[in-house]
Amino acid sequence: MEYRTLGKTGYRVSVIGLGTMVHAGHFGPMKDEESLAAIDTALELGINFIDTSDAYGAGYSETLLGKALKGNRDKVILATKGGNVMVGPDKGKRNFAVDYIDRVLHESLQRLQTDAIDLYQLHNPTVDAMRKGEIWELLDKRKKEGKIRHYGVSINSVEEALAAIEGGKAETVQLEYNLLDQLAGEKVFSAAEKASVGIVVRVPLRRSLLTGKLKPEDQQRFQGEDVRARNFAGDAFKKQLEKVEKLRFLAKPGRSLAQAAIAFCFAHPAVSTVIPGGRNPHQVRENAAAANMRLSGEELERIAELWRTELSAK
Ligand SMILES: NC(=O)c1ccc[n+]([C@@H]2O[C@H](COP(=O)([O-])OP(=O)(O)OC[C@H]3O[C@@H](n4cnc5c(N)ncnc54)[C@H](OP(=O)(O)O)[C@@H]3O)[C@@H](O)[C@H]2O)c1
Repeated sequence: MEYRTLGKTGYRVSVIGLGTMVHAGHFGPMKDEESLAAIDTALELGINFIDTSDAYGAGYSETLLGKALKGNRDKVILATKGGNVMVGPDKGKRNFAVDYIDRVLHESLQRLQTDAIDLYQLHNPTVDAMRKGEIWELLDKRKKEGKIRHYGVSINSVEEALAAIEGGKAETVQLEYNLLDQLAGEKVFSAAEKASVGIVVRVPLRRSLLTGKLKPEDQQRFQGEDVRARNFAGDAFKKQLEKVEKLRFLAKPGRSLAQAAIAFCFAHPAVSTVIPGGRNPHQVRENAAAANMRLSGEELERIAELWRTELSAK
């Protein structure tokens, strides 16, 4: 496993981390035994950065991690998030009010069964929420008390990422970056590097599209709580599948398309860690092995050309 510095936090994080949204059933039903085995496998392989949120399964993913990390808590840099309301009348809304974040931060500590959260991230804050000083004052206060060790944001757009970096408070920015969405590489990474803000790459497999295993008929099995019911709705799914076909040249003996997709993400030096969601030990192993793989200069040039000409089109 390769380790990189996570921006201003100074943590040395594995270049492949683990995303745990899948373990809360957001990619179809999950069994706890499979989740626990996936997490154990990650630790065995030297993965030391695990990302969750109070929103994943309305606390389910955090509760599971609290159990899974008993006896191993010191081996992991544990990142969670708050700000997306998942229960009650405001379900589905975002809330970055100081009293709300303070409450959910304490609830996360309890579910994770830990005295301190290593990285607390505001979950998809708006530019306005980030510009208000009061939320950072709260996080500074909790940092001084030792309840959180560092803080950052997880964002949805280039504008939000740049606002977080320019604001100077966030130590890390988590964002989507993958072969099918390379905008952050063009517009965010150099600003993050200059400001020593650590980049956490989420959705590196574009919710399993970039494994190359999905077919048009899979669209109908994404239902209900599966995030892909929304993300892969309508004609967009077919168009994305066509784009994936253009990237198949990256798979070769000894390197799957999924591994190439992950290696693409950390090929950029601004990236500290890439957090694919591994559903089971087999997926976690395949994803972790990508740490030893490098795309050639020629492959990276072909990817850049494809992005300019075909992949960036909506
Ligand atoms: N707003 C936010 O802050 C936000 C939003 C999204 C994600 N995230 C974070 O980023 C993490 C990763 O994103 P993600 O889970 O949405 O997307 P992803 O990592 O791009 O895709 C994960 C899915 O791909 C499939 N997969 C993973 N490894 C595979 C392998 N080796 N072979 C075949 N299939 C494989 C699994 O689904 P199947 O087996 O069902 O195909 C898995 O659930 C999340 O867990 C979460 O921690 C944060």
